[in-house]
Amino acid sequence: MNFELKTLDLNLAATHKTDALIILVSAKDKPAKGVLSQLISEARKSGDLDASPAKLLSVWRPQGVAAPRVVLVSSGDGSARVVRQAVTAAVTSLKSFKVEHLTLCLSEAGDYRLQAAAQAIADASYVYTTTKPSAKASVLKRVVLALPTADQTKAAKPAFELACAQVAGVSLAKEWGNRPANFATPSHLADVAKGLGKKTGMHCQVLGPKEIEKLGMGSFAAVARGSVEPLRFIVLQYHGAPKSVAPTVLVGKGITFDTGGISLKPGPGMDEMKFDMCGAASVLGTFEALSHLQPAINVVGLIPTCENMPDGSALKPGDVVTSMSGQTIEVLNTDAEGRLILCDALTYATRFKPRAVIDIATLTGACVISLGHVRSGLFSPSDALANALFAAGEAVLDPCWRLPLDDDYAEGLKSNFADVANVAGREGGSITAAKFLQRFAKDYPWAHLDIAGSAWKSGGAKGATGRPVGLLLHYLLTSTPASNKPSRRSTKA
Ligand code: BES
Ligand code: MN
Ligand code: ZN
Repeated sequence: MNFELKTLDLNLAATHKTDALIILVSAKDKPAKGVLSQLISEARKSGDLDASPAKLLSVWRPQGVAAPRVVLVSSGDGSARVVRQAVTAAVTSLKSFKVEHLTLCLSEAGDYRLQAAAQAIADASYVYTTTKPSAKASVLKRVVLALPTADQTKAAKPAFELACAQVAGVSLAKEWGNRPANFATPSHLADVAKGLGKKTGMHCQVLGPKEIEKLGMGSFAAVARGSVEPLRFIVLQYHGAPKSVAPTVLVGKGITFDTGGISLKPGPGMDEMKFDMCGAASVLGTFEALSHLQPAINVVGLIPTCENMPDGSALKPGDVVTSMSGQTIEVLNTDAEGRLILCDALTYATRFKPRAVIDIATLTGACVISLGHVRSGLFSPSDALANALFAAGEAVLDPCWRLPLDDDYAEGLKSNFADVANVAGREGGSITAAKFLQRFAKDYPWAHLDIAGSAWKSGGAKGATGRPVGLLLHYLLTSTPASNKPSRRSTKA
């Protein structure tokens, strides 16, 4: 999908050649001359279009308008959230028509509205086709985002570029999240990373079972042991700032299928455990977005990826493994595998002398119970890091919520046979999981995002959401000191 930013007031929009014209109508818009303004005024007067959020009115071939389909939709209070809701409703209403070229007229771009609108268009027109040949792929090719004045268009340029990069990143994360486990193996994810590694400023290294053993990642290796698919450890680096600038490290859980291992999960709904690599997918998506934007920052992506399967060589409950940190772990439940692969990646992260490390993982069912599918769980001993991530999530409608990390929560992780156990009781399960990870993240400011509830949707709309690419991207661009310097792209231009 190709996005363009254009200046079109409503008079120009009336003459604009496009398959469908969506006009976001705000209560603040003043009645003016011209066929579209008149149409809006009359629709308002008649009561067919009111100011309630996402109220929709479709018009077929209005006289004096070049576009065959016009959708008027109320943007309510004008917030990014309602813009998203309104654009989603409008694009969905056009889904059965052949719309190759869509134009969306906004009256204002600020406060993340443009980003919300672009993401909503991409999400509402998304169709998964990779393993479903019968699916009708979206025909939408060209999207014009229009603002009424040249000054507004000029001011919105950076937001527009960010929106396009985010859409690309989210779309990559969704695509790989949605692919079934036999189409998204650890080796496939490594290939995606290698592809990203060829882009400007990027570098990619992929380690296999032998290297992992040499590094002493006994915890990660133990999870992979029950599967015939070999594990991969992906190290992606983006260098947009001088080497001396400390990087932010993103660590993504890449379990391409989680059966639970010998602590086997119940059958119903187990298919959804193909989404257990959505943390990894969000790291890949964020790198895709960075490759578009080329900001003056340094970022490292670490992805431990493998399957969690039961077989004769699989890890057993009670087994003790030795992590790369030297700490031994008693594996009381092989289904708590995410933390077992993440802990070694967190130890590996130390070598980058990072300014911050953020891990992203579909870690616990307990997090879904706490926060549902709306907010991701956020854990960090650092107020500064937690506040920055929280604010980034609020801004780009990819919200999270901070949960506590009191040491008392770690009591249940004590073991008679190892330095630590991999599970505590059922209570506070997402917090005890975070307490386990914290033991391996002592060398740098660290935060953990539990995306078990936010990374995908179940039911009729089953599918990956691409979250939290928006949050991560926004955090990286606003909270990384070196981003004040000109980006590689703007230096070239
Ligand atoms: N990948 C799951 C977490 C999960 C479960 C995410 C359901 C989304 C929906 C993780 O590996 C897991 O199995 N966690 C266990 C931990 C437990 C054994 C302490 C869980 O949450 O049940
Ligand atoms: Mn599990
Ligand atoms: Zn898992």
